[in-house]
Amino acid sequence: MNMVKICRKFLTGNGNHMNKQLLIDTAKELLADDKGLLAIDESNNTCNKRFEIIGIPQTVEARRDWRELIITTPDLNECISGLILYDETIRQNGRKGLPIIKTILDAGIIPGIKVDIGAKSMALFPKEKITEGLDGLRERLNEYQNIGARFAKWRAMIRVGSGSPSQACIEANAHALARYAALCQEANIMPIVEAEVLMNGDHDLERCLEITKEFLRTIFNQLYRQAVMLEGLILKPNMVLPGLTCKKQETEAEVAYATVKCLLQSVPAAVPGIAFLSGGQSGKMASARLNAMNLIYKTKLPWALTFSFARAIQQPALKIWCGEDSNSDAAQKALYHRAKCNQAARLGQYDTGMESPILNLPEPVPI
Ligand code: 13P
Repeated sequence: MNMVKICRKFLTGNGNHMNKQLLIDTAKELLADDKGLLAIDESNNTCNKRFEIIGIPQTVEARRDWRELIITTPDLNECISGLILYDETIRQNGRKGLPIIKTILDAGIIPGIKVDIGAKSMALFPKEKITEGLDGLRERLNEYQNIGARFAKWRAMIRVGSGSPSQACIEANAHALARYAALCQEANIMPIVEAEVLMNGDHDLERCLEITKEFLRTIFNQLYRQAVMLEGLILKPNMVLPGLTCKKQETEAEVAYATVKCLLQSVPAAVPGIAFLSGGQSGKMASARLNAMNLIYKTKLPWALTFSFARAIQQPALKIWCGEDSNSDAAQKALYHRAKCNQAARLGQYDTGMESPILNLPEPVPI
C-alpha cells in the first residue's frame, strides 16, 4: 500500500465517509450546459468599498438587497449554475423574510460558500500575503453543509513585483489550498481551488505566464501529496495577462494562446473544469478573452474552460442599480446580459455585436 492509500484510510476525521461520486457529480453539474459560476462572495469590507465609490450606503440591508437583486434575476439559471456566497449572505433572509439560500435553490442554482478568511500579511515576507482560515474549518464546513452549501471556495493570491513572489509565499499558499481542499472533500463539499496572480504591476505577459505556471504546478503537487481527488474539484485561476501598466498589451488571441499554454503545462487532465476569475478586467474584455480560448482551442483541451467571475458580471449592473429600487429591473437586465455573453464565450460564440442590446439601458454613473 503506498503512502497516499495509507493516508486515505484515515480521511474520516469528521465521521463522514468521503463520497467520491458526489464530489464528481457536483463538479459536473456546475460545468454542465455551458453555464458558469457567479461569485458574490465579497467580504463586507470589499463590498462596502465598491458601494462607497458609487454612493450606496455600506449597510447590512444594502448588501442584502444587492445580493437578493442578483439572485432573483429572471432566468439567471439559464447561464449560471452556481453562486458563491459570503458568510453573511448564506445566513441571511431576504426582504420578505425568506431565507436567501431557499431563493437560490428555488431558482435552480447550486449554492456555494467562500470559506477562507482573507489574505493576511505573511510573517517575515512583508510584501506578500498568505490566505488564512484553516482553524476550525472542519466544523465550519459541516455547518455550511447543513445550511445547504454544496461547494466551497478558497482564494490564494500572489503579487508580482521586484523580488516577489518568493518561493516561500508560493509554497505556503499552495499548502494551505491543499489542506482546505482535503477538508472539503472529507466533508463531501466540492472545493474550488482559486489561485490568483494579480494583474497589478508593469510585468509582461511572459512573466505572468512563468509565475502562474510555477504557482499552479506547486498547487497540484500539494494536492497530490495531500491525496485530494482531482476529478472532484474545479480550478479557478487567473487568465495569463500582461500587468495593468505594462506598455505592451497583447491581443485576445495572444492572451488565449498564453493562457492555454500555461494551463496545459501545469493542470492535470483529470481536473474536470477550469473556471476563470476576472481579476479586474472589464466585463467585455473578460468575455472576449474567454471566447478566444474556446473558439480556438476548445476541441483540443481535456478540461472545460468556463467563468467564475465577480466584477466582470456584477460591476455594470451595480453601476446601474446605485442602491435605488427603481433601477432594479435595469440592473437585473444588465447582469443577465453579462452572464449570457459569458455563456456564449464558453461556446466560442461571443461577438461584440451581442453588446448592442445593452445600449438601451440607462447610462451607468461613472465609477
Ligand atoms: P473577480 O472575478 O472580480 O476577480 O472575482 C473573482 C473572485 O471570486 C475573487 O475571489
